[in-house]
Amino acid sequence: MESNVKSSRIGGFHKLGIPQRVAAVAGFAGLDEAEQSHLLNTGNLPSATADRLIENFIGTMNIPMGIATNMKIDGRDRLIPMATEESSVVAAVCNAARQCYDSGGFITSMSGSLMIAQIQLVDVSDPQHARIEILERKEQIRELCDACDPILVKLGGGFRDLEVRVIETRGGVMVITHLVVDTRDAMGANAVNTMAEKIAPMIAAWTNGRTSLRILSNLADRRLARARCVWRTADIGGEAVRDAMLAAYHFADADPYRAATHNKGIMNGIDAVVLATGNDTRAVEAGAHAYAARKGHYGSLTSWEITASGDLAGVIEVPMAVGLIGGATKLHPTAKSALKILDVRSADELARIIAAVGLAQNFSAMKALATTGIQKGHMALHSQNIAMMAGAVGEEIDTLASLLVDKGTVRLDVAEAELKRLRAH
Ligand code: MEV
Repeated sequence: MESNVKSSRIGGFHKLGIPQRVAAVAGFAGLDEAEQSHLLNTGNLPSATADRLIENFIGTMNIPMGIATNMKIDGRDRLIPMATEESSVVAAVCNAARQCYDSGGFITSMSGSLMIAQIQLVDVSDPQHARIEILERKEQIRELCDACDPILVKLGGGFRDLEVRVIETRGGVMVITHLVVDTRDAMGANAVNTMAEKIAPMIAAWTNGRTSLRILSNLADRRLARARCVWRTADIGGEAVRDAMLAAYHFADADPYRAATHNKGIMNGIDAVVLATGNDTRAVEAGAHAYAARKGHYGSLTSWEITASGDLAGVIEVPMAVGLIGGATKLHPTAKSALKILDVRSADELARIIAAVGLAQNFSAMKALATTGIQKGHMALHSQNIAMMAGAVGEEIDTLASLLVDKGTVRLDVAEAELKRLRAH
């Protein structure tokens, strides 16, 4: 009798052609012809490119990309591509930007483009001594690091500093070396990881210890993107709105339960631009949340105050490890178009724009939450999704969506019943 236990042990899966991989998965999961050909339709990302980006590739997952309008950053108007599956995210940025456009928009800056690679040293009997021994070799380490990436050095980047920390852990004392490297227009993971792997054996030899992990830190706190903006109280609905928004910020900065959601909203905007430009959303997320917790408690990535003239001033400061070269930024055709729309010349410029988007997103979320609540705006778009899920097509989508909003119940069961009624007429 044939066993119906399915096995995930598919030897040589990666060696199969893409259609054969899809067929193997279809056999496992019972995908029909239509589902298989859907997977094989990779849209505007050629399958040959996608197959080189990841392993065991079988299809693409398309996410809508929209444009945030109204953004004025450092005196220059920008159109900002945002890739997100969530409704209201693009609209939120457009709205926030419209309300500060006439008062000057966003001003941005950057702390630098330094990334840190960590080398973990364990089994050292004299960690303080080891620390100084490593620090003494700074110039030697500089030469070795720079020799790993002559192109980076030619472009003005390369090794910048050496830090060595002695930390107490559950497993004993460790000596952690930081290579601080200017990675210019690259996100920098490859560059700094190569350097860390090169230096590690020498650190082990100099100290008689044992090196283990050699990897960049995503807490990119030497690569902080900053943006600030003042919204005139008259442009945002008056003092009551301003004060309610300020109280929303105070709530977030004091309470991690609220801060997580507050920062999630900021990351809605940030991730959408990071993704549209083919950058690493997880690296940026990890850096942002670690930075938000740097004071020992998890707080807000933004801060808000009232200016002397009574207006609402917002600032954001967030690690932003993004690049213009390497990985999907150069290979994904949509990322290439997104970068062209943004018209950025450096990773620094891109990082600063992304910070401004995060601030704009936070403004809109706080304003909506402190006034009408977010459901009203959300429901308008959400109702369209629900209408489509209920099976509405063409003009039915808008008709059914408005009907659901008017009724105040945007639910699938209600949508299905209403669609039946519409079609019966
Ligand atoms: C929803 O994706 C994001 C918000 O929850 C952010 C916030 O609460 O500040 C609206």
